[in-house]
Amino acid sequence: MTPAEKTLRSYDRLPYPGIEPTLAEGKGGSLPSQRWIQAVGLPGQGKPARVLVAGCGTGAEAFVLRRRLPKAEIVAVDFSPRSIEVARRIQRGAKIARPVVFDVADLTDPDLAAKVGKDFDLVTCHGVLSYIPDPGQALKSLAPCLRPQGALYLGVNGGSHPATRLRPWLDTLGLDVDAMQDERRLRELLGVWDALYDDDLRGLSSMSPSYLASDVCGPHFNNWELARWRSEAARSGWEIAGTWLLPLAIRLTMDGARHRPLFPRGIGELASVLDQARPAGFHRILLRKASAIGDGIRWTGLYTPRFREAAGTASVPVVLDSAVFNLGQDWMLTRRQANALRELVAAGAAPKGWAGRWGTGEAARRILWQWEAFGAVTRDGRDGAAK
Ligand SMILES: C[S@@+](CC[C@H](N)C(=O)[O-])C[C@H]1O[C@@H](n2cnc3c(N)ncnc32)[C@H](O)[C@@H]1O
Repeated sequence: MTPAEKTLRSYDRLPYPGIEPTLAEGKGGSLPSQRWIQAVGLPGQGKPARVLVAGCGTGAEAFVLRRRLPKAEIVAVDFSPRSIEVARRIQRGAKIARPVVFDVADLTDPDLAAKVGKDFDLVTCHGVLSYIPDPGQALKSLAPCLRPQGALYLGVNGGSHPATRLRPWLDTLGLDVDAMQDERRLRELLGVWDALYDDDLRGLSSMSPSYLASDVCGPHFNNWELARWRSEAARSGWEIAGTWLLPLAIRLTMDGARHRPLFPRGIGELASVLDQARPAGFHRILLRKASAIGDGIRWTGLYTPRFREAAGTASVPVVLDSAVFNLGQDWMLTRRQANALRELVAAGAAPKGWAGRWGTGEAARRILWQWEAFGAVTRDGRDGAAK
């Protein structure tokens, strides 16, 4: 049996995240905010009208998107027939006004776009590619499903995912991790693990059998650093537009201007080198076609600027606050830059000639670069953006 067949058998046996009718009401705690997906993944565009949920399991992710985007057409696919059957049953019970279209499809099928459709504005793929032996093929098959300006959201395991160390540790203690038998012994050992990792996360020992079958005992894992996911995605023409952790990581480097040696790396490379130094357990990544990311600058609206100018002074203190990232930061801008920022915020996209008003020196470019890493501005290649 191939690793992919083992994965299919495992999800058919224990569909993820479960079979309870209440899944239709979940809040989607592990999905990133829709505001971030919209602002960084689909800059200057309307709300997505067509969404594909790739690897939907029993529908939790699709039901969250259904509530977030009530007008969108949502198609959700999974290669596990049992998961799709359960998702349809949950949906019937929940009496959803505009139903999600649930279908069986394999993401590694080269003809995926012919089966699920093209021209989606957004594809979300949360907690799926980490369990596919050839995620590069899945990315290749997903590429023609999106329209050129669309966004692909990926939630994938990182280098410090617990399973990286947990599985060899369970093996050392004589447990056949792949088989997920003897649940009592497994939960006892996970209790020891939880005691050693006394953090805010819910203990592994109390997770559902579906979670353990997938995230601890699954037959195949890609627990990769961001750089590897990035290069895998680049083979299908994708580049990172932002990651959920990047604003926090760049913020940590900014005190004492420690971030300076990293300038002027692009966002994808910056996020990757920071992750290399401090690997995440789970990545939330927004990808766009590299060809759609240009030099134009757009204000994302994820931050609120507050200008604290005093009449007559040459410098203007500005505070950028974000409820989305729970981050705030003070900046000192020249009066000219403060005016240019006002213009950018009001227009949404930098108007023609804006770059000259903002300033083209290294210090001015560095501020924009930091803001891009923060998710305050994003790059866009379409009309209306400054060159
Ligand atoms: C951990 S679950 C995540 C489900 C859902 N995205 C969520 O976050 O609730 C992983 C899902 O990926 C599906 N999957 C794995 N390999 C797949 C493939 N090649 N094609 C389609 N679905 C696949 C599994 O059947 C499983 O339902």
